[in-house]
Amino acid sequence: MNRRAAWPLLLAALPGLAVATVTPRVAFTGSGDPQALLQPLDADGRRRQQRGLALFNTDHVVAGTAGAAAIDGLGPVYNAASCDACHNSGHRARGPIADGPLPLALVIQLGVPAGSTPPFGAVLNAQALPGVPLEGRASLRFQLRSGRYPDGQPWQLRQPRYRLAAETARRLPKRTVIRPRIAPPVFGMALLEAVPLTAPGRFGWQAAVPTLAEQTAIAYAHEMGITSRLRPADDCGAAERRCRDAPNGGEPELADADFDAVLAFQRALPVPAEAPLAGDAEAAGRALFIATGCSGCHREQLAVTGIDGLDTITAWTDLRSHDLGPALADRDLAGRRQPTRFRTAPLWGLAAARAKAPLLLLHDGRAASVEEAILWHDGEARPARQAFERQTAAARTLLMAWVEGR
Ligand code: HEC
Ligand code: HEC
Repeated sequence: MNRRAAWPLLLAALPGLAVATVTPRVAFTGSGDPQALLQPLDADGRRRQQRGLALFNTDHVVAGTAGAAAIDGLGPVYNAASCDACHNSGHRARGPIADGPLPLALVIQLGVPAGSTPPFGAVLNAQALPGVPLEGRASLRFQLRSGRYPDGQPWQLRQPRYRLAAETARRLPKRTVIRPRIAPPVFGMALLEAVPLTAPGRFGWQAAVPTLAEQTAIAYAHEMGITSRLRPADDCGAAERRCRDAPNGGEPELADADFDAVLAFQRALPVPAEAPLAGDAEAAGRALFIATGCSGCHREQLAVTGIDGLDTITAWTDLRSHDLGPALADRDLAGRRQPTRFRTAPLWGLAAARAKAPLLLLHDGRAASVEEAILWHDGEARPARQAFERQTAAARTLLMAWVEGR
């Protein structure tokens, strides 16, 4: 089958097909790929998408930079100057490889206890413009955990421990929850948007945000310090006077048309092609995934509405959040765990991610392989993890290889 065909073409080629269950996938190498579109666009749509691509990839600059009105307003506090600095050509971010300062795209969100004013806003920003005090940096240290499968084969996991600089931690209430989150991929957004919501939200590692527009406005404000029509304020905290008083690059800093272009670009970004296993292994791997209970959450089919000719998508998620147990849960500054629910991570695009860089999985990139990601599953996913552990070594290898091929 021609993987480059968008779905209207696909369906035209297969008249009488009862269900339109083929999620459009393309050979996708990155957001700059000129062929990579989820759907054919008309000339206007194409121009908007191209403008969005350029904005997604452009480093924004400080307010008042000559000749840069469209892209000025960076900061006063921020984590990165462009979307792409974290979102890696549309793919998931590069995660933490070793102990030390966090990679740029591993963001610390601050869960401030009810009733107190957040001193640094919603996100701990690792960069600030000259003259604006830095909020602080975080670092991590991995502790190794090891164990054995019932058949005796050993495994090892990396448990991250997060630390904030002492002067930063001192200014935060002890009950502030540290939420490390890595930048997820941003392809297939139009497809996830087409899933009718049964929960408060669908985007982000916790499915907390309902719409792409909202998620994008949060990214501009919290990660880049750029205001837009939905988020007219930067992420300055209550006590950050110089952050509040810094000159801005317009009100809002991002023009409405440009905001819409960035949405159009993300909606047009297609899902990378799978890398199916050879011969019978593909069907056997899928059967094992289902038999092990993985598909209870990583659902094969999800109904969509509002897209002509498409009834369901295969994103390998239920787009709902689940409690995967205490080891994955966030902690507060005093080290106490906070029950945390995570969205079933869509598994689509793993094959392409793996071809690009070594996989670093889960909400903070702690899992250095599919095997490690599975072994972190606990809580609601404990039965599935245990079923995986009880498989023969050959079956585990097949299941992991199949997941890596999505
Ligand atoms: C400093 C790194 C960083 C930058 C810069 C950044 N993001 Fe993100 N992005 C993240 C993180 C971290 C998350 C996960 C947030 C969460 O789980 O709450 C995320 C989540 C998202 C999601 C949700 C995807 C999904 O499947 O749920 C979208 C869409 C997104 N970002 C778009 C953007 C856009 C557009 C920009 C530029 C305006 C941008 N991001 C800039 C780090 C970044
Ligand atoms: C109870 C629901 C549930 C079940 C059952 C479940 N998962 Fe997950 N899975 C999740 C959630 C939630 C996450 C995200 C957790 C996080 O980021 O901390 C996840 C994350 C993953 C990831 C990492 C994806 C990424 O993008 O980082 C992989 C791989 C994965 N699961 C594979 C499996 C496999 C294989 C099975 C069966 C052995 C399985 N899961 C069973 C809910 C589930």
